[in-house]
Amino acid sequence: MNSPVDKIKERLGIEEVVSSYIKLDRAGNNLKAKCPFHNEKTPSFFISPDRGTYYCFGCGASGDIFTFVEEFEGLDFKGALKLLADRAGVPLTVYTKEMKEAESEKEKLYRAMEEATLYFENNLKNNSEVLEYLKSRGLNEKSIKDFRIGYAILDWRKLYDYLKSKNFSDKEIERAGLTKKPEDTNKAMYDRFRGRIMFPIADSSGRVVAFSGRIFVDDGKSAKYLNSPETPIFSKNAVLYGIDKAKDSIRKNNFSILVEGQMDLILSHQAGYHNTVATSGTALSDSTISKENVVSNLGLIRRLSPNIVLAFDADKAGANATIRAGKIALSLGMDVKVVDLPDGVDPADCVSKTGPLAWKEAIKNSKHIIEFLLNKALKNSSDARKVGRETKEKILPFVNALESAIEKMHFIKQISDLSGISQDALQDDLKKVEQELKYEKEEIKEAGETLTKIYRRDYIERKLLGIALWQQTLSSPAVDFETILSKLWEVCKKYEDIQQDLIFEAEVFYTNDENLEKSVAEMFLNLEEENINEELSKKMMELRKASSEESVKILKEINDLNKKKEDIKNGRVNNK
Ligand code: UTP
Ligand code: MN
Repeated sequence: MNSPVDKIKERLGIEEVVSSYIKLDRAGNNLKAKCPFHNEKTPSFFISPDRGTYYCFGCGASGDIFTFVEEFEGLDFKGALKLLADRAGVPLTVYTKEMKEAESEKEKLYRAMEEATLYFENNLKNNSEVLEYLKSRGLNEKSIKDFRIGYAILDWRKLYDYLKSKNFSDKEIERAGLTKKPEDTNKAMYDRFRGRIMFPIADSSGRVVAFSGRIFVDDGKSAKYLNSPETPIFSKNAVLYGIDKAKDSIRKNNFSILVEGQMDLILSHQAGYHNTVATSGTALSDSTISKENVVSNLGLIRRLSPNIVLAFDADKAGANATIRAGKIALSLGMDVKVVDLPDGVDPADCVSKTGPLAWKEAIKNSKHIIEFLLNKALKNSSDARKVGRETKEKILPFVNALESAIEKMHFIKQISDLSGISQDALQDDLKKVEQELKYEKEEIKEAGETLTKIYRRDYIERKLLGIALWQQTLSSPAVDFETILSKLWEVCKKYEDIQQDLIFEAEVFYTNDENLEKSVAEMFLNLEEENINEELSKKMMELRKASSEESVKILKEINDLNKKKEDIKNGRVNNK
């Protein structure tokens, strides 16, 4: 029997899959594009329809439709499999039933979240008071259904009992973040979410990975929103609320709208803007969330479209979020606009109180972030000296974040026109700001690059480990799994929880691979290349800070690393 992977590959060509994400151009027998995995101006991303593979000469990204979807959408293998199987119309049920025995922990957690979602949805259907409340907030029935909104009854163990009746173990229910243990360990666990309206948070393939619960029965001391904790399937930093429903629309309309809250998101979708995503639960605005994570969330949005419209609450927290996310988005080469809402109003209010047309107007009138900030600064002060200072402190850092010199010139002129400060004076100040913020800008760039690198290395390690673990279970293995394991022993521990997933992935992927040994060798080469790349970027950092004596030594090291990289590349060509 052909594996589902083979069937999917038969039905979906790489050209079809990749072109649904990015624009492709012909280049002889192949196709080329600007690489979606790193920021570049000229295309170095090549696709071979014959082999069903892609390779980027700029950053080394390579693989087939599965790896492409995984990396582009930020999914694991099963997520990508689900997405592509749906698209190709290949049923996975038969196959997954066979694999039931080996259902991994992660798989169980996904199932627990799905059961919990169904359970909460059902509760809501039977609770007219909560339904009335949601309608009074402007939500219609379709939105409630599409976003799978539910209700957690105000009681201690309703969900727990329900999941137990579905044969989930205490450990699984707790690991899914659905219950909490009391301090007195003799007592039973209790539901984390009680008396709350439940918003399921899904990953980009639509699997529910977490919940955000809005208080309904207010006891006067609990937080308005309560979110799932970190779990094996939910990293607060890696999921944007609504991304599963928004991604196609973002690509099609070539811009995204970023809002803060669940209500904002759903009402914006209801008003026809399906290209809206929310930071909620992931809180891009939260200053405790590291820059890397903001970069990674914005990076995912950027892959869908470089144009983003920020629509945070018109309050202090919203303004700070605009400044933080806006500057990082500019540094990532995105075009950033801001929606100007009246004081104290959020997008949800705008849609529900003034109607979808008002929201449409607000989006249409959104201004480039630099113009938006400048207008704010000018409104707040009439004193010329103060305007000068504010411009330097609050506006020029954003001009500095722009990539293109032409853009910079454009905004210097605009700022000069609106503020009356001469272009020369602005240029002088910009030079100072550039110097002061040089490090910050590089840091953001670096964060973006490091992220894709770490991801790619993890990815190769996982594949290799999966192959070794799978081969270990066979009576006549096709590769020397012991050698692979010994080379990877340091990272084995990291993947302990997902061993079953890795075996599954390797099995579906490589069952019909006639030359597994060669594939393994190629992966080790890729891994080595990744390591060298990492070393290289470390050395480049050192070089920037080095004295002239030190730099001679560092330059030589860089040279050696580049030679090694060349050798790997040449070796690869000779192997083909
Ligand atoms: P807001 O306080 O603006 O909430 O927080 P909201 O969305 O306007 O609330 P309602 O439901 O319409 O009255 C914005 C977002 O910040 C997160 C939530 O995701 C919320 O939607 N948040 C807020 C929390 O995670 N915890 C909180 O206690 C409050
Ligand atoms: Mn709000």
